[in-house]
Formats: sequence, C-alpha cells, structure tokens
Amino acid sequence: MAAGAKQHRPKRPSNQYEKGIQLYMTNVDYLSAATEIAREAGQILRNFSDRSVAVEYKGAFDLVTVADRTSEELVIRRLRERFPSHSIIGEEGGRVDNGSEYVWHIDPLDGTTNFAHGYPWFAVSIGLERNGEGIAGVVYNPITEEFYAAEKGAGAYLNNRRISVSPIDTLENGLFATGFPASKRKENVNVYYFHQFSVLTHGCRRAGSAALDLCSVASGRFEGFWEFGLKSWDVSAGLVIVTEAGGKFSDMRGGAYRSGDADMFASNGKVHEEALNLFARIRRGDMAAAIPAVPSTEPRA
Ligand code: IPD
Ligand code: CA
Ligand code: CA
Repeated sequence: MAAGAKQHRPKRPSNQYEKGIQLYMTNVDYLSAATEIAREAGQILRNFSDRSVAVEYKGAFDLVTVADRTSEELVIRRLRERFPSHSIIGEEGGRVDNGSEYVWHIDPLDGTTNFAHGYPWFAVSIGLERNGEGIAGVVYNPITEEFYAAEKGAGAYLNNRRISVSPIDTLENGLFATGFPASKRKENVNVYYFHQFSVLTHGCRRAGSAALDLCSVASGRFEGFWEFGLKSWDVSAGLVIVTEAGGKFSDMRGGAYRSGDADMFASNGKVHEEALNLFARIRRGDMAAAIPAVPSTEPRA
C-alpha cells in the first residue's frame, strides 16, 4: 500500500466487530508510525546532549537550541512522508495546514531548559488529534529510555508494559506537579497554587517537562498535574496517555479542556474534585494554608 494510504477515512463498517477491528488497525498504524519517529528524534536529542550546544532565546527566558530544531525537522519530514494529507503543528514553527481532521501536535524537545543545563529530564512528544480529540500519543525520554505510548481505546504503556493511574484518593496523600511557562513569567500567579499544594500534600514537583509530568500521572507516580499557559504540543500526547491509563483531565474549574486552552488539570480521577475545590479557594484568595509573612532581614539576637 502506498505511503500515507491508511490516513483515509475507513469505509463504513458492516457490523460492530468489523468496526472495532478497523478502528484498532487504523490507530495502531498511527501509533507505530509515531513510535518509530519518536525513537529517531530521541536519538537526535541524545546525540546532541553529549556535547554542548549554543542556546538562543525566543523570548527573555524562552530557550531554543539546534537540538529542538533538528528534532522538529526530522519529525515533520517523517510525518509528511507517511501522512501527506494530515495537518501538523510543531513548536518550532513547523506548520502543515491541509485543513485535515487529523492534526499532529509536536514538541520536538519538551524540557529545553533542562536540556540546555544538562539536567537529564526532557522528551520528544508527538500527539495525534482527530477533530480536536486525542487519538494517539507517544512521549520518549531518550536519557532514561522511558517510552510512553497510548492510543484511544487500547490502553497506555510504558516500555510496552501496561500502566495505570494511582489509587490514592486524597490530596494529602498525593504527590503533585506543576510548571511555569517562560512567557509572561512575572504575571504568573501559579506560585500561590504551588505553595498550597506543597504544604497540603506529600509535595509538589516542578520538573520542567509538561509531557513527562503528564506521563508521571499516567504511570501513578503523581496524582495530579496542572499548569497555566500550556500549548497543544506540550499536552496533546500526554493527555491521551493519561486518559488511557484511567485518569482524567479538565480545565482548572472543572470545565472541558482542549489541548492549548488557558489552564489544565490532569489527575488520577480520584483526587480531581478535591483539587478543583482547592483551586477555587486559591482563586478566591482563601488560602487553606496561610502564607507566612516575609521574614525580617534583621540578624537574630
Ligand atoms: C516547557 C516545559 C515546562 C513547562 C513550560 C513548557 P519547552 O516546554 O514543558 O515544563 O512548564 O510551560 O513551555 O519549552 O521545554 O518545550
Ligand atoms: Ca519544546
Ligand atoms: Ca514544551
């Protein structure tokens, strides 16, 4: 079959059984393509991570390197070879707008700041959405060699082993994560949320890769992850992985979230409501844990 032929809408199935098989085969095809491409891109990131690369600035604190760009070029080239009629949105400017119902969202290097500082926590993230709904996603950390993959209706996997979200059902027993985007840093109110979650739960991590944070919710390491200002390429793949691992996501008021909306919360599902309630309190300025006063600068007697 010619490259890209599988992207066409399957013929209307004659019964439920056929329908299941067709859906499965179509998605497996997308997932295996994404898997192969993410592995190749991951190899690029690993090679660049062995040497020092120049850092450029897209904004005051928004870094980009040759590794981001080389990885994105590779991913887009490969996707276009396989799915020429699909649309593509890449963080580093790669765009293919075919008006397709299928859109690939690519973060060629999620965790650029970590990468630039030699902190080995970054990933390539490739998500596929159909009419705005996530149907397949892969996230690959080439340093730890953790490869997350999921497709709609077929479960989530870490290095080919099925994963699921954690059973913890209270905030106080949970571990959480958040992040702070590079843009509009000084206007970001997330420090209040970070403080509350840090003192009212087992803790709150800020590891620097939204895609991997979502995968940590999916694999049961974290109970929840939220952030303001994420882009579709940060979350598209991770949200499929969370959902297929049994978790859920919404905006931070509990409303519907589509990748790229203003704020997002993903969790194991069991702590979702309690976290939304805490977000609401913080929004009202009603801090469940009081923020201590600024300490005196006078030396202690
Ligand atoms: C960033 C990371 C970080 C998150 C930022 C993202 P990048 O992506 O995911 O964890 O806090 O909002 O922009 O720039 O490293 O691809
Ligand atoms: Ca990136
Ligand atoms: Ca990113």
